[in-house]
Amino acid sequence: MIYADRMMTVRGSVIRDVATEIASRNNPNLIKLSGGLPDENLFPMKELQEAAETVFNNPELYMESLQYGLTRGDTELLDLLAERLNRLENMKITPNNMLIVTGCQQGISLCATALVNIGDTILIEKPSYLDGLNAMLPYEPNIVGVDTDEHGIRIDALKAAIEANPNTKIVYVIPNFQNPTGKAWPLEKREEFLEFMSRPQYKHIAILEDNPYGEVRFRGEHVPCLKSLDKTGQVVYLGSFSKILAPGLRIAYVVSDDTHFIDRLEEIKEGADLQSNQFTQVHVREYLKANDIDAHVQKICMNYKKRCDALVEIMGKEFPTGVTFTVPDGGMFLYVTCPENFDTGKMLKDALDAEVSYIPGASFNADGSGKNTMRLNFTANDIPKLQEGVRRLAGVFKAEMAKQGM
Ligand SMILES: Cc1ncc(COP(=O)(O)O)c(C=O)c1O
Repeated sequence: MIYADRMMTVRGSVIRDVATEIASRNNPNLIKLSGGLPDENLFPMKELQEAAETVFNNPELYMESLQYGLTRGDTELLDLLAERLNRLENMKITPNNMLIVTGCQQGISLCATALVNIGDTILIEKPSYLDGLNAMLPYEPNIVGVDTDEHGIRIDALKAAIEANPNTKIVYVIPNFQNPTGKAWPLEKREEFLEFMSRPQYKHIAILEDNPYGEVRFRGEHVPCLKSLDKTGQVVYLGSFSKILAPGLRIAYVVSDDTHFIDRLEEIKEGADLQSNQFTQVHVREYLKANDIDAHVQKICMNYKKRCDALVEIMGKEFPTGVTFTVPDGGMFLYVTCPENFDTGKMLKDALDAEVSYIPGASFNADGSGKNTMRLNFTANDIPKLQEGVRRLAGVFKAEMAKQGM
């Protein structure tokens, strides 16, 4: 086969590489702090089963779930989603502002298809969600990482990056419990960011707000999403049921004030897959009609808080001086920074030998920086396993320090 030039830029995910390496070891004692899975024990199995039975037991609904549907998405599901976003996020949208997509992942890809010419610049946080980058890479963009601090994207660095790259088309950000760092931008940061982006010379740049973790807040007050603070209509919002219901459903949505933009995304989606899975759309719709999803999300948050707190506590006790970490108020991940001379990519083998895994931080940076960092997940293991995983990891850190004469 003679591949298209764009395949030069496409790459597989490091997360998959780590998963493959773990699978090849076939070691049931290995504690995976590397994964990005929500806890399946928290899936509302009974309620989702009842919703499926509602569909199966009603011939009309069952037939509807097996038939082609609209590319835009199931009309009733769109109504429910618009109502929910207006209520929770103070948006002022109708289904005309929305498109159902197959995961946020497809939303990122469709937006890149619609907006990015070869060589156009996409600015991303440093570090950022690596599969988000992978969704954009086939469009052969110039991806530029923008420095962040403990509060999120740095506006001075954003200004420098936009000035250096006048062909910037998209700024892709995850302001809530970011993957990989777990950080959330405070309100002031969001306002400062939007004020900056709304300047006349930047108004044409789309802000892609990826928010799959926004509802998974287990500490502190809700902070409005960029979309609800946006006055210019620049923000394109991505939301998903993956972290609050079940990722296998693959139901997510794109929201924009610009209905023409949504129409264009719909046209691209039609070419890509005609529509998102009809059965799961009807299934999720019936689940939402019969259940209080907000109460379910609360249950998830309470559970994840306990795990995150336990992880943070044991890391504080076990990790040697010189290793620091973020303390998230929500989401599924936290980020560890080791001493400068550590290379967590190289150290992964030692960690796997010690029966613990993580994702090396360099993979979340477009320029390969962050070699001394790593992402840890706290949702896929119970507390005793998290604690044991940290003890093992602390042993790896101490051995590395000894090796380096520290
Ligand atoms: C920041 C971010 N965006 C998007 C996704 C993909 O979400 P979905 O399952 O809705 O495609 C993930 C999944 O981990 C993520 O972390």
